Amino acid sequence: MSRLIIWDPEWSLGECIVDRQHRQLVEMVNRLGNVEYGRLDTERMLKLLYYVKVHGETEDQYLRIGGYPDYEQHSMAHDEFYHDMHRRIVGLSANRDEMRGEIARWLFHHIEAESRDAAFRSCVFVNRMA
Ligand SMILES: [Fe+2]
Ligand SMILES: [Fe+2]
Repeated sequence: MSRLIIWDPEWSLGECIVDRQHRQLVEMVNRLGNVEYGRLDTERMLKLLYYVKVHGETEDQYLRIGGYPDYEQHSMAHDEFYHDMHRRIVGLSANRDEMRGEIARWLFHHIEAESRDAAFRSCVFVNRMA
């Protein structure tokens, strides 16, 4: 199966923790629905979702320290995505192909928007932890 998201080097923020998490999320999304397994795997989706949560917590720290202007909104967007997706994945009625597409779109938008956001970049880069 072709990759849903192809990593764009422009997305790198120059900070190893957030960059590594973004790359890991892209890899995880690309593994969803791998033909090797023949079907979408709830466990893998939940794992990915949990990692979105961990990633949100990492970013929260940077944005709080850096005084990011839309901190609350940014933090809430992560939480909302997590809770909405979790409810639908656990409620087995959700269409797996649709969910996979939705997760990939959200992630693509998430990473792409952050890479273009100067305030976000500066919070993460300036406060980077060695
Ligand atoms: Fe984010
Ligand atoms: Fe992010």
